[in-house]
Amino acid sequence: MNPPIADWQGRRVWLVGASHGIGAALARRLAGRGAQVAVSGRSEEALAEVAAARMRVLPLDVTDAAAWEGAARTLANEWGAVDLTVMLAGDYRTVRAWELDAATARRLVEVNLLGVMNGVAALMPLTTARADAGDWGIAVVASLSGLCGMPNALVYGATKAALVNFAETLYFDLAPRGVPVYLVNPGFVATRLTAGNDFAMPGLLTPEAAADAMIAGFEAGDFHIAFPRRFARQVRLMAKLPYRAYFPLLHKVTGL
Ligand SMILES: NC(=O)c1ccc[n+]([C@@H]2O[C@H](COP(=O)([O-])OP(=O)(O)OC[C@H]3O[C@@H](n4cnc5c(N)ncnc54)[C@H](OP(=O)(O)O)[C@@H]3O)[C@@H](O)[C@H]2O)c1
Repeated sequence: MNPPIADWQGRRVWLVGASHGIGAALARRLAGRGAQVAVSGRSEEALAEVAAARMRVLPLDVTDAAAWEGAARTLANEWGAVDLTVMLAGDYRTVRAWELDAATARRLVEVNLLGVMNGVAALMPLTTARADAGDWGIAVVASLSGLCGMPNALVYGATKAALVNFAETLYFDLAPRGVPVYLVNPGFVATRLTAGNDFAMPGLLTPEAAADAMIAGFEAGDFHIAFPRRFARQVRLMAKLPYRAYFPLLHKVTGL
């Protein structure tokens, strides 16, 4: 559904949310394959450690739309174009209904959802002004928890469900204009985001394995890059069940 990426040598890739976790692993993997990599996030020190003097460091808070615009313009000026921007910045808290508070809800929406929308808004003028087929690609990192309602993910899952919808619509608009769009839905990955989870995480991956799955998806030209495969298949099947079967199954598999 997207042009396959045959070779990363010299490919200009911007990873936003790459100071830790999956983004950091992806940055190291892609730099190792010869890509020209820029890394963003809030923590300058952690970014510098990931970059190890071989990547461009662009500190950025995704909730700041003007900062997104400035960073996108800087890279466009330095590189001419960005072949692929991967939007990984995300925050997560376990929230059950009776724990919901407005401040947490606002924070997760601002980072996970509006952070991505700020980024796409910053990229659009550059994309439409200078697109050559296949460059200015955008990868939105959502989550398998965005495919159906899951306990503990009351707010987080809602932000990711919105991102799934956003990425689908973005693909519809941009793919015909030669701009690749990817929807990345990881399952559980062992990062600081999930370190506090006190429940079993089926199919838990290392950040490196998650990065490899993403690279394989980009190389294949997939729109929907979902992993690990088995867990992703199970969640997609669950999401298609009628509600009268879905809720009892969810109680059974989560024990909640
Ligand atoms: N781990 C999982 O099981 C899992 C599963 C499904 C989806 N995901 C998604 O995968 C993405 C990466 O998560 P991860 O597990 O690798 O988590 P992580 O290790 O906590 O990394 C999150 C990254 O996002 C950055 N970030 C957070 N808030 C930001 C902000 N306001 N502005 C700019 N950058 C910000 C962090 O950098 P700074 O703190 O330096 O800003 C960090 O680099 C997230 O979107 C997450 O929702 C993760």
